[in-house]
Amino acid sequence: MQRRKKRRVLQLDLLIKNGTIVTADSTIKADLAVKDGKIMAIGQNLKPEKGTEVVDAKGKLVLPGAIDGHTHLAMPFGGTISTDDYYAGTRSAACGGTTTVFDFVLQGKGETMVDAIKRRDAIAAPDVAVDYSFHVGVCDVTTPELLDSMEDAVKYGVPSFKVFMVYDFGVDDGSFYQVLQKAAKIGALVGVHAENRDVNNVLVKQYLAEGKTDAWWHYMAKNEDVEGEADVRAINLAKMAGTSLYIVHLANKQGVEAVTKARDEGYPIFAETCPQYLYFTNEVYKRERGRDFVCSPPMKGKESQDAIWAGIKRGDIATVATDHCPFTQAEKDWGITTKDGKPGNFTTIPNGCAGIENMYPYMLSEANKGRISFNKAVELCATNPSKLFGLDHVKGDLLPGLDADIVIYDPKKNFTITNDAMHGDTDHTIWEGAKLKGYPVATYSRGNLVYKDGEFLGKKGDGKFIKCKPLKFTGPCL
Ligand code: URP
Ligand code: ZN
Ligand code: ZN
Repeated sequence: MQRRKKRRVLQLDLLIKNGTIVTADSTIKADLAVKDGKIMAIGQNLKPEKGTEVVDAKGKLVLPGAIDGHTHLAMPFGGTISTDDYYAGTRSAACGGTTTVFDFVLQGKGETMVDAIKRRDAIAAPDVAVDYSFHVGVCDVTTPELLDSMEDAVKYGVPSFKVFMVYDFGVDDGSFYQVLQKAAKIGALVGVHAENRDVNNVLVKQYLAEGKTDAWWHYMAKNEDVEGEADVRAINLAKMAGTSLYIVHLANKQGVEAVTKARDEGYPIFAETCPQYLYFTNEVYKRERGRDFVCSPPMKGKESQDAIWAGIKRGDIATVATDHCPFTQAEKDWGITTKDGKPGNFTTIPNGCAGIENMYPYMLSEANKGRISFNKAVELCATNPSKLFGLDHVKGDLLPGLDADIVIYDPKKNFTITNDAMHGDTDHTIWEGAKLKGYPVATYSRGNLVYKDGEFLGKKGDGKFIKCKPLKFTGPCL
């Protein structure tokens, strides 16, 4: 008996047709099919079936959802808690085309890394509207057990850590070195907030004694050299420990040069910068509300900004992330009068700004204006973070089998950023009035439409914790 050949049934949930599919390394006109939250196929003339939702993306770009590798949601910091909780922050992320966020867990004194992650996840899981993972901000490795607990975090699916060379909860160089040594053994990546704490403290004292209290002096006390020296030292420590290093929120020329040099020598040194350093300079601290721009590291001079853009174009900056850490204007006003009613100064302003909804739109707008390619914007905001943080088995690209985290981008839709048009809980944005060329018009998180034409359509708690793979980088592979 002759067997009838079975027709392959695709059973698609969603078919995005006629778009231009842009990934880090290709640009093609094609259709993209989604089934069960995964990308099922990319090809020409894919046909819908009964029940398939068809979206016409003619004239639009179809991109991987962005991965924001650096957020601080509901974080106790600067005498308060950052304004956006996990729902507000991820809602805002989705509306800016970001489909995964990496939030920071700050380890408590005596707390193991996994306990810190679980403590934070209990707050995040019920709230998140897009997928998420964590980096652990290491604060205490004073016992062998605490240091060894980094390995348990890697097994738990969190293989990335951050050490702070600044702030009172930051670590000293000895602890930093031990964290690097441990990371080399267990397949982890260490990120670093590089600013010279001692010099910063001295400058703060001197400026305050001279009555220099406004936001400009925040910049001066954390100037180019204060950051650059720490970048160089951090790279040296990583070289000595024989491991990789990820410099977060890089904002100065000397640091860019140090990263370039180390990479040219073959070391696995990676750098992240943030849109605020690419768009603003230290001039913002001269504004009437300069305190709204207080973040660490602060925005630097034009020379540094130019060096960062050059580093991006050369390939020496691996990722762009937001460092989203918003505070209300009333909290920023603690720089004038503290919450206890005392005279304030630049050190009493909570450090951080909102940006989670602005990263992908800004970088894509710069691409649309011709400064970088769209492929480069995707690489910086999606593909490289996924590779660096061990997510590339599920996210960061548009390939069959990966999560259907997709952004549809209209290159013709112009957009002026206003706080009213943002979807977080913050009462102001440093990006107010910035004009973007092109804007995301739809975001899908694992195939679910979570944002369309200015409206958030996702659900609180729908985001999933993503387990990341162990990490090992032997050279400047990205
Ligand atoms: O000003 C900032 N960046 N606040 C958040 C904490 C940090 O250092 O990343
Ligand atoms: Zn930092
Ligand atoms: Zn940060």
